[in-house]
Amino acid sequence: MKNDGDTLDLHDRPAAPAVPDAGVVRQNTRRVHVKTFGCQMNVYDSERMSEALGAEGYVTTDTVDDADLIILNTCHIREKAAEKVYSELGRIRAIKLRRAREGRGETTVAVAGCVAQAEGTEIVRRAPVVDLVIGPQSYHRLPGLISRIHAGERGLVEIEFPEEDKFDHLPARTPKIRRQPTAFLTVQEGCDKFCTFCVVPYTRGAEVSRPVARLVEEAELLVRQGVREITLLGQNVNGYHGEGPDGRPWSLARVIRRLAGIDGLERLRYVTSHPRDMTDDLIDAHASEVKLMPYLHLPFQAGADRILAAMNRKHTGADYLALVHRLRQARPDLALSTDIIVGFPGETDAEFEATLDIVREVGFAQAFSFKYSPRPGTPASTMEGQLSEPVKSERLQRLQALLDEQQSSFATGLVGQTVPVLFERSGRKPGQLVGRSPYLQPVHAEANEAWLGQIVPTMIVSAGPNSLAGVIQSQ
Ligand code: 5AD
Ligand code: SF4
Repeated sequence: MKNDGDTLDLHDRPAAPAVPDAGVVRQNTRRVHVKTFGCQMNVYDSERMSEALGAEGYVTTDTVDDADLIILNTCHIREKAAEKVYSELGRIRAIKLRRAREGRGETTVAVAGCVAQAEGTEIVRRAPVVDLVIGPQSYHRLPGLISRIHAGERGLVEIEFPEEDKFDHLPARTPKIRRQPTAFLTVQEGCDKFCTFCVVPYTRGAEVSRPVARLVEEAELLVRQGVREITLLGQNVNGYHGEGPDGRPWSLARVIRRLAGIDGLERLRYVTSHPRDMTDDLIDAHASEVKLMPYLHLPFQAGADRILAAMNRKHTGADYLALVHRLRQARPDLALSTDIIVGFPGETDAEFEATLDIVREVGFAQAFSFKYSPRPGTPASTMEGQLSEPVKSERLQRLQALLDEQQSSFATGLVGQTVPVLFERSGRKPGQLVGRSPYLQPVHAEANEAWLGQIVPTMIVSAGPNSLAGVIQSQ
């Protein structure tokens, strides 16, 4: 389970190299290193940026020291996430100076993502090593901006919300490479919900849904490249309402049904959802669409209705429990995951207990819990009753102890069962592969490389804190 202060990566999987690796290319090729913080949306954006640069002749490198261009794709959700960027920039400054001393050429440094969007020119002021600050809506302009830096400009800041849609201007997904069996696909960006603690509506802007035809095209291409599982991404993914081929808005459920029709695509997931947008057709999809995996990340944030109202969540604790009940009727083995904030301004002990009550009532397979972190510009940051660190820490500890117990009992409950595992990559030990259960848990098994990209019945034999061990059932 992720603790407060960690960047949030619900799937915790390495990003596939989007363009050829530097090891196999000419000496004078330009190399880009992209470091991703935060959510899956950033993982997806990093891939798209690498691909856009790939079209300009760049190759990706995992070694920051070898990179001519370093991009930090940043997260602004909590203060610690943003501070990490500045400490990383300190390290990068030293690398840039060393590379210059050793005559290895210019190193261009770019900050992308939500810190870029939120802090803009402040980044260049605080960290003059930065040549370019670029917001998430401008990634299609990246190659042009890099050329301007090569022509001698410095300290460029591109954080407008441009008129044009970046997806129409980014090159198509790189066609020829072989991908990992799992991929992300952004279907929706931005959020109109304005929870009072959250920066996303300001950093990512208003909700925009991509047209269905673009999603189908991209999904089909990914499947041709070997992808078997697609996770549909959006800050408020179930608020999706993109234009369908019939010219009318389609719901996320309809998109899921359409994508499930693609031969060779075996699994679909979506993240992150708001309880208010869990429509009947989406709940139905969990009952009827076999390719939709029985795992749902559904944040509830807090248990007490007074706090939920102050958060502007527009649902009560009882609403959330009723929704969970309906989802479980639709899909009895649905594994639930959630996000919870402790220590929101004014939260009393009794109100915190109400959060624990919801957790006990639902029983989560996985959860992400955070201490409330005041974000400048959000309504909650100036509310009365800001709580002290020790109070927040104590509550977080109690909550996480309960969540750890639930996560481990969910995992232990699978021991002895045979579940289909999609094997994604080699494990740390030789002869070992790592895949995912339908419930998104990593599963390790002794397995031949031939099983990579295959969904294989696997008997779960033991459960550790963060992963399961399994034995493949068909040879
Ligand atoms: N403080 C603490 N946690 C936050 N989150 C969002 N904003 C804040 C904040 N200001 C958490 C929420 C959200 C998740 C992505 O991060 O739980 O669902
Ligand atoms: Fe932020 Fe999610 Fe609330 Fe939107 S729904 S404002 S992204 S917490």
